[in-house]
Amino acid sequence: QETTIKAFRASILHFTADPAFNDNAYSWFEDGLLVVDGDRIKVAGDYDKLKDTLPDGTQVRDYRGKVIMPGFIDTHIHYPQTDMIASPAPGLLPWLDTYTFPTERQFKDPEHARGVADFFLDELTRCGTTTAMVFCTVHPESVDAFFSASEERNLRMIAGKVMMDRHCPDFLQDTAESGARESEELINRWHNKGRNLYALTPRFAPTSTEAQMQLCGELAQKYSDVFLQTHVAENTDEVAWVKSLYPNARSYLDVYDHYGMLRPRSMYAHCVWLDDEDRARMAATGAAVSMCATSNLFLGSGLFNFAEADKHKVTLSLATDVGGGTSFSMLQTMNETYKVARMGGTYMPALRMFYLATLGGARSLQLEGTIGNFAAGAEADFVVLDPKATPLLERRTTRTNSLEELLFALALLGDDRTVAATYAAGKQVHQRGE
Ligand code: GUN
Ligand code: ZN
Repeated sequence: QETTIKAFRASILHFTADPAFNDNAYSWFEDGLLVVDGDRIKVAGDYDKLKDTLPDGTQVRDYRGKVIMPGFIDTHIHYPQTDMIASPAPGLLPWLDTYTFPTERQFKDPEHARGVADFFLDELTRCGTTTAMVFCTVHPESVDAFFSASEERNLRMIAGKVMMDRHCPDFLQDTAESGARESEELINRWHNKGRNLYALTPRFAPTSTEAQMQLCGELAQKYSDVFLQTHVAENTDEVAWVKSLYPNARSYLDVYDHYGMLRPRSMYAHCVWLDDEDRARMAATGAAVSMCATSNLFLGSGLFNFAEADKHKVTLSLATDVGGGTSFSMLQTMNETYKVARMGGTYMPALRMFYLATLGGARSLQLEGTIGNFAAGAEADFVVLDPKATPLLERRTTRTNSLEELLFALALLGDDRTVAATYAAGKQVHQRGE
């Protein structure tokens, strides 16, 4: 009888808590073994302790010299913006008008959408990202294309149809009613289909009428296990615009709060210009922050404040925000996150950044136990990182004296080249050089 068990020998890292608030937040096995049964994690531990527990004939893949950790989780990204990454503009609003809206128009065409979705998922897995929370466009066709592509690869993906019924070109507008109806149809078609999960996706408060916000909030309450994703307080011009559109709201975040959109499984991208009351509401309601370093720097939006967020124990996660972000790589994203934190007076250890990109992301999505670490029974999504991926990385990492120094070098110098292999649900979905 053939065993469904496979094992992987490497150094192994995964988290059980946020290292900013806990001692013993992680497990590190220098000579480790990751044992996988089918699509699930069986156990992670020391090679010496586990090697004799394997059934006879178990294949042990030898990744010695490399580091296995849970697949990265990118909690905010736009797949339709793949083809316009690195488009120059003097800020968020002109960038949306000049590049974003014309690019998103093309996703009415299912074949175009499928082609971009395939490239996008290949690029994510090349970078070691196994779960992402993804904006599609206003077109339901863009969602069908994305989820079909993700289902074929058996990836744990979260995505949704953009809702926007004002302040955007006619060719990208839905209505309050059609947006709600189509979103509900897509929930029924895709939520929990294979590993796919649905997210209600009002683009941001300025592009929704109050009628649309109202219907979206009702769906968010009716389908409490469905996700919700949007943007908030990214840029000062945007904040001023929201103030003029919703004069009765206490703050930008308060607009979403008013419509019942602050809840567990809701993800707020950016949160650069929140105040203390906003942060307290995020923490009290279980809404999560998606912090987008490369995007905030690229668009000149501002510096996210980690100290204030941590004071309120807001749930944090990291994201690329491609195409506002400039890299698909969560390693490059950590590099820039470190610098944003540093500029705001916070010293962010690499251990915490790897936590935020794995278990922290899973917790922000209420998916702990399913993804994000190597707990027994979790889905076997993991990456194999190569500390010798480039001449410079090899030179640097052979001179590190601690786990923190090794991780710091991987975060600051790493990118897609550092990802030797990526596995999703126990199956290899990327091999470097192929
Ligand atoms: N705010 C509204 N739409 C967008 C978008 O597509 N990208 C970013 N970065 N911010 C937004
Ligand atoms: Zn975004």
